[in-house]
Amino acid sequence: MTIPLPTPDSRVVITGASSGIGEALAESFARRGHSLILIARREDRLHALADTLKTRYIVDVDVDACDLADASARTLLLGRLLDRDISVACLNAGFATYGAIADLDAIREHEEVELNVVAVHDFVVALLPRMLGRSSGGILITGSTAGNQPSPNNATYAATKAFANTLSESLHGELAGTGVTCTLLAPGPVRTEFGAVADLGAIEKRLPGFAWVTAEQAAEAAVRGLESGKRRVVPGATAKLQDVGGKYTPHSILNPILRKVYGDLR
Ligand SMILES: NC(=O)c1ccc[n+]([C@@H]2O[C@H](COP(=O)([O-])OP(=O)(O)OC[C@H]3O[C@@H](n4cnc5c(N)ncnc54)[C@H](OP(=O)(O)O)[C@@H]3O)[C@@H](O)[C@H]2O)c1
Repeated sequence: MTIPLPTPDSRVVITGASSGIGEALAESFARRGHSLILIARREDRLHALADTLKTRYIVDVDVDACDLADASARTLLLGRLLDRDISVACLNAGFATYGAIADLDAIREHEEVELNVVAVHDFVVALLPRMLGRSSGGILITGSTAGNQPSPNNATYAATKAFANTLSESLHGELAGTGVTCTLLAPGPVRTEFGAVADLGAIEKRLPGFAWVTAEQAAEAAVRGLESGKRRVVPGATAKLQDVGGKYTPHSILNPILRKVYGDLR
């Protein structure tokens, strides 16, 4: 199983391409000769990345700025994408909130579910039929090791990533033999703007340097995994430890530990 070869008309669509893992995914696909559609809200960043990639590689890069937490904007975007030849969809945009759910801003919590869950599902439902119709395509979903276990003080995020992880692995099984493949990227700590967006301050200082992977490492591992039809890509040693620990440690033990860890983060 591999993903479609690039053609002049085909596009790899990447959500959350204005920074971090999404920006690095854009570079990984462009390096392989894939033309792109970049999606996020910060249009200036998307255009700057598009200009860089078009200069560096022989690819076309389109920008479609959209607030994916906005259901109406999302519907219009998906309508535009249905007019395009989408070879691969990287459903990567996401953010986290930390703290007791009752203390967090209700509107922001709702946006988190819209972006991390509903938007991912909407993209799959909209784009998959065309991929199945031509028996080729790839879907890469960015979940998280946070989706393996309950996470007090990070409840909404962990629940959204449990959805992403389960949706992705379920599709991987469901699509076997169809020519379309789905891979889960389940990162642990990746150096991006993720911590700043979650208002975590100097989160990088709380873990030793070796515990982190770069966005480029995570993205390249994800693209290789997608190309080789892997079910789940977990980049780096810390993520692999979290992955196994989260899946196999009894939740009665993990719950108080994670309550303390995430409660102390802010
Ligand atoms: N970094 C980590 O340690 C880590 C670990 C596990 C999983 N992840 C997951 O990896 C994915 C990428 O995150 P990252 O680490 O690369 O963080 P990041 O640097 O903060 O990137 C997040 C991306 O999502 C986009 N985004 C946020 N809200 C959006 C909205 N309403 N509409 C459209 N786009 C939106 C942002 O663009 P705009 O602000 O321009 O809209 C940005 O491009 C996320 O799903 C995250 O949950 C990250």
